[in-house]
Amino acid sequence: MKWISVVGARPNFIKIAPFCRAVDKYNKTNAAQIEHILVHTGQHYDDKMSKAFFTELEIPMADLNLDIGSGSHAEQVGKTMIAFEEICIKEQPDLVVVVGDVNATAACSITAKKLGIDVAHIEAGLRSGDRGMPEEINRLVTDSISDVLLAPDNFAFDTLLREGHSPDSVHLSGNIMIDTLDRELPKVKNNELPTGLEPNNYVVVTLHRPANVDELEKLEKIVNSIITEADNGTQFYWPVHPRTKTKLEEFGLLQILEGNDNIILEQPIGYHAILRLNLDAKAFLTDSGGLQEECCVVGTPCVTLRDNTERPVTLQEHGGTNVLSSIDSLPEDLAKALSAQRKPFRPEKWDGHTAERMVAVLAR
Ligand code: UD1
Repeated sequence: MKWISVVGARPNFIKIAPFCRAVDKYNKTNAAQIEHILVHTGQHYDDKMSKAFFTELEIPMADLNLDIGSGSHAEQVGKTMIAFEEICIKEQPDLVVVVGDVNATAACSITAKKLGIDVAHIEAGLRSGDRGMPEEINRLVTDSISDVLLAPDNFAFDTLLREGHSPDSVHLSGNIMIDTLDRELPKVKNNELPTGLEPNNYVVVTLHRPANVDELEKLEKIVNSIITEADNGTQFYWPVHPRTKTKLEEFGLLQILEGNDNIILEQPIGYHAILRLNLDAKAFLTDSGGLQEECCVVGTPCVTLRDNTERPVTLQEHGGTNVLSSIDSLPEDLAKALSAQRKPFRPEKWDGHTAERMVAVLAR
């Protein structure tokens, strides 16, 4: 069997690490061998956004890098499809495995299906219902053409059945990110916090969605909410995404943040660093998908600055620690999160063994 797995952006790396290990484990215990080729589209290319994750999560170096880099969505998807088609024609895989909801996911699933190659989607069935999000388009396109749909939770599983996918093609496999969390957590739990941070008195901020960071008026309101709490004595630790950094500079907000003693701005940080921060954080303020899930399992109150989430299983009303917030309700939601208790919660099959279940299904 020959499989090609594709990654492109930061969240993909965290999900593919346990999958690569599960393939190796399968090969050690089964006569039928899987030849596994890892392709990196090169959407994320900075060391801090890419290489750092390969190193600390011990992901084997990608066999092929398409080097597509930054660009508009059409540019990224188009360049990826052209380059990936050549690889598929040369390698003739039996299966292409795509992950998550980034541009690589949609581009490579379309390319493979047009060549008649089977596609498996890890993290299938997530729906925010918001077609204004590029990730939602990637999810809808990928799921509609995938042959094997690996759902992380019961909401996703039910969605896929409701959309008419054959029950034979849909599998409740669990959340592969939690495999990584369970493996890495013991390595970081005794690490020191960054200098100056007081345990249980800081909020970790990660924001990168265009809807939050691209307009002055919105980003300014977010910054003001942060400054209000910082002035009340809460510390903020903010590893700034490259897109957000550019916008903060452009809008003259970076200097204001830098001038506050309770706000620490950082470059993008690695997986181990953010996991360590999660263990002692008072709360997270984020628009990331994966952090909603990690906070849910670790038990950290999480304020998600979005109108919707494709991960409802993480919400407070379903047992998690996550609340959705708008820019206008942020001051109130942040204050509430700061007085909330930690409450770890693991949805069904978020047990650290998702990758093995996936490889077993795909090998069958
Ligand atoms: C992408 C994913 C998003 C995911 C996020 C995680 C899509 C549609 N979006 O968004 O789902 O949550 O990754 O970070 O695939 N840049 C750098 N260095 C890099 C990569 C990017 O400086 O290594 C800068 C470039 O200016 C680029 C901008 O960041 O234009 C945005 O990067 P891009 O890959 O287009 O999307 P993300 O916002 O990172």
